[in-house]
Amino acid sequence: MRDFYPSELREVQWIEGIVRDVADLYCYEEYDTPLLEPIEIFAAKSSDELVNEQSFIVEKKKGERLILRPEITPSLARMVASRLQEFKKPLRWFSIPTCYRYERPQRGRMRSFRQINFDILGENSLQAEIEMFNIIISILTCYGATSKQFQIFYNNRRFVDAICRVVLGIPEDKMPLLYKTIDKSEKMDDNEFKKYASESFQDAFTLQGIMKLKTSKNVEDLLNSFENLSEEFYKSEGYKEIKKLEDLIKINKISDYCSFSSSVVRGLDYYTGTVFEVFDTGSENIRALSGGGRYDDLLSLFSEEKLSGVGFGMGVLMLALFLKSYNLLPDYAGTKDYTDIIYIIPLTEDVSLYANEIAKIIREEDFPCIVDYKFKNLKNQLKKASDLGVLIVLILGSKEMEQKIITIKNMRTQEQTSVKYESIINEIYDLIDNYAGALPDE
Ligand code: HAM
Repeated sequence: MRDFYPSELREVQWIEGIVRDVADLYCYEEYDTPLLEPIEIFAAKSSDELVNEQSFIVEKKKGERLILRPEITPSLARMVASRLQEFKKPLRWFSIPTCYRYERPQRGRMRSFRQINFDILGENSLQAEIEMFNIIISILTCYGATSKQFQIFYNNRRFVDAICRVVLGIPEDKMPLLYKTIDKSEKMDDNEFKKYASESFQDAFTLQGIMKLKTSKNVEDLLNSFENLSEEFYKSEGYKEIKKLEDLIKINKISDYCSFSSSVVRGLDYYTGTVFEVFDTGSENIRALSGGGRYDDLLSLFSEEKLSGVGFGMGVLMLALFLKSYNLLPDYAGTKDYTDIIYIIPLTEDVSLYANEIAKIIREEDFPCIVDYKFKNLKNQLKKASDLGVLIVLILGSKEMEQKIITIKNMRTQEQTSVKYESIINEIYDLIDNYAGALPDE
């Protein structure tokens, strides 16, 4: 798990600030959920691996087991289900929770991580998938990324189902195992994968089909690799959906950002239709930046009524690594700008009361300010202010306090004057205006 030092947190906040701007543009409302949840809601819908191998479990006294949320989607379903009638559909919600997974820490994966989530619930049309793709594109292009640097790889579980059921004859109850197998395929070469897949699927024809699902980057190529596809296959929901999604991608002119990939099936159990993952196209960041998909039955644990949702999660850490790889994270993102901070130096402890009084009126005017309590060496204190990049310093000695005046120093020009206590705010505005006016145009 990780600490965030101020400059690291500032960077995270800069990254998340852009996400929040995009959430506003698409009208998504923020929600949050408890950190601890009953384990059952994840056990029923997420995945065995996530719950049994990758979660932190907290045991209550009576043996009741709680889970530190490894993701937020099942909690979202619980929240929505419990007030289903109240909400106008579709719901557009976003959240940036800290999640916890007991994974081996490695580049882009930690045991605690912030995860950006966008979900739309109650919109059955594939337009919702296109909205998700557009949100991802908006977020990444806002930082300056291009389609050469990232791709959204999509697939559809109903489409994979149809291939497996109609073409390869894989029984329904083996499908979760098949998804798990294909989901692991990205991390293995062909030989390793063949060996791994043959532990679960022994039939040669089925194995050959699974190998095709590992590698295809184009729907037509994948289908052409199977002989004599039946009418039944072409009539399947899965085939129709993937074709429709491809048409929508084309007419929405986002083809540059999106590619089909048969190996994207997702490791979580609740996805039922479209699934997608976002990858860096370069070689530096090999793990997914983001993943998501459509879930038709996630609310069924909490409600009789059906409500289909589609959404994605994007790790802030992965996003930061991606941005750094392409120089898209500006230096200022992690640095505090002290220019507009008023730095007050009381020369002795006796004048600290006067300094605090002035600090109060300055803060009431919404100017941030710091009072330096070192009372020792004016030269050192001025150096500290200068190192921070402060523009305005106020120097206060006993003379200033007695006469109710303030010495104001412009740290850029080194000019220094005494002004009346009542006029300090105007003086600060004047100084800042003059400074801003003298800056070169951007
Ligand atoms: P996920 O694929 O498990 O999906 O996670 C989504 C993203 O979260 C990953 O692509 C990665 O960027 C980030 N992530 C996952 N695990 C870690 C980790 N240990 N350390 C750092 N980052 C990590 C879900 O969680 C789904 N609930 C997403 C979703 C929302 N589906 C529908 N709505």
